[in-house]
Amino acid sequence: MERTRWYKDAVIYQIYPRSFCDSNGDGIGDIRGIISKLDYLKELGVTCVWLSPCYKSPNDDNGYDISNYRDIMDEFGTLEDWQEMVDGMHARGIKLVMDLVVNHTSDEHEWFKQSRSSKDNPYRDYYFWRKGRGKDGKKPPNNWSSRFSGSAWEYDETTGEFYLHLFSKKQPDLNWDNPKVRQEVADICNYWFEKGVDGFRCDVIIYISKEAGLPNGKFNPMLCGDEHFVIGPHYHEYIHELYEKSWSKYDCMTVGEGQGIKRKDAESMVAEDREELDCIFTFEHQECDAVLTAVPRPFKLSRLKKILNNWQHLPDNCWNSLFLENHDYSRSLPRFGKVEYRKQVAKMLAIVMQCQKGTPYVYQGEEIGMSNIEGLDRKDYKDIVSINIYDLAKKIFPPLVPVVRWALRKRARDNARTPMQWSAAENAGFTTGTPWMMVNPNYTEVNVEQQQGDPDSILNFYKKMIAYRKGNEVIRYGTFEEYYPKSEKIFCYERNYNGKRLFIVASFSDKNVSFKVPKGYAFKSSKLVLNNYDDAPVALSSYVLRPYEAVVYEVE
Ligand code: NOJ
Repeated sequence: MERTRWYKDAVIYQIYPRSFCDSNGDGIGDIRGIISKLDYLKELGVTCVWLSPCYKSPNDDNGYDISNYRDIMDEFGTLEDWQEMVDGMHARGIKLVMDLVVNHTSDEHEWFKQSRSSKDNPYRDYYFWRKGRGKDGKKPPNNWSSRFSGSAWEYDETTGEFYLHLFSKKQPDLNWDNPKVRQEVADICNYWFEKGVDGFRCDVIIYISKEAGLPNGKFNPMLCGDEHFVIGPHYHEYIHELYEKSWSKYDCMTVGEGQGIKRKDAESMVAEDREELDCIFTFEHQECDAVLTAVPRPFKLSRLKKILNNWQHLPDNCWNSLFLENHDYSRSLPRFGKVEYRKQVAKMLAIVMQCQKGTPYVYQGEEIGMSNIEGLDRKDYKDIVSINIYDLAKKIFPPLVPVVRWALRKRARDNARTPMQWSAAENAGFTTGTPWMMVNPNYTEVNVEQQQGDPDSILNFYKKMIAYRKGNEVIRYGTFEEYYPKSEKIFCYERNYNGKRLFIVASFSDKNVSFKVPKGYAFKSSKLVLNNYDDAPVALSSYVLRPYEAVVYEVE
């Protein structure tokens, strides 16, 4: 099957179904809710949806723990609803990329139930089972840590052995060294392709191959063991096999989640001739204001620019993903700007990201400038990671709790998971029932309905931005050249393709900043094409940028 690589022209909208739109008043978003918003997506101009997991799941990690890969979570609806949704998307020219969560399953998946039942069960080798260490065999088999805190091993009474879980103990890791597991994964992909899916976002795919013998990791108090499973020994072989057995048979796209992946790793993962993934998400840039993407530190623009610039220089046979937000990160607005300047900051970030080379992703609510939720308390946190960290601090060192509270306010994944703000009606129009998680109280001012009626709104700007990208060759193919890389206030770059040039200047400052056209920058004429203040200069010139001002010129 020919790969048209349609994703290179796509703008992808991520839906976190639990928080998107509730159609039946149970307080939880669902598929019929998504169906009711398809026209909204079409009007926004996005051409593809990445849907976070909607499969059967006990929801230990909100669907990233799957108990049946071939069916829909009861709270979200039925397979018939799903089919109607995908048909409705296709009818509107929107493709669908589903989440493929196959590093691990839920412990409630039938494979795991079988696997844990006895040592000689045919499914035993679908997972990693090992004897414990120590005299009583109750010490974990190695020192690897779960990404969700604590040991990555859980003791199971039934057979007196431990199983491996790099995430929660309800997310046991699949053993990809078992060819049957790899066949199961290919079959799952093909099942959904046959139903009309257009691709997969591959969850923590870089962890699928573990080093033989599962050796101890180098000492690391937070994330121990990485060197034995991040792009492990058989990673490339297993991904290529999946490509051959499934992905190559469809005109699809695959994008892998790449925690810890650096620019230098990317080429071996996504170069077209490797026949593996089409693209990956790097999280390098999420470290511009956090250590290990989780512990807050002051935002440094030069750090962000350096990383983004580096990724803009991927070789031509690789493709980049552009994103600031997803369901695992707090909202970008308070991270990169002051919330008082919501409109300017949100539009500026849209310009800065979407004028780069790669496929842009818009996370639900980003297009209206949703921001973090203030004042969450222990009882309001719903994410297993926030709850674990909070409880751990309380248990081992209570004076740490205020620090944890501060860090969570800034970084908790819950910030991105508050219900979508559709209107100023009760519960932001998300549900007629009691929302599964607190609605951000700012919904009375920040909501879709209000912004639809305001020509100057963030939402209407996103429509303009997305429309501008479409079919614009300089955005798809153009080279990327940065100016003033050391500036902590201005992000400035040029895109150039066959003589068509775009010049982008954006201020990340809440003060006026003077901008000078770079010395020796030659151009005959210029035309303002996008801006976030309505009276920006019509031609490129040295100029005092107002707080968070961003402008895009076509130059000749
Ligand atoms: C990455 C997903 O994005 C995150 O939400 C999830 O908790 C982990 N993978 C585990 O599946």
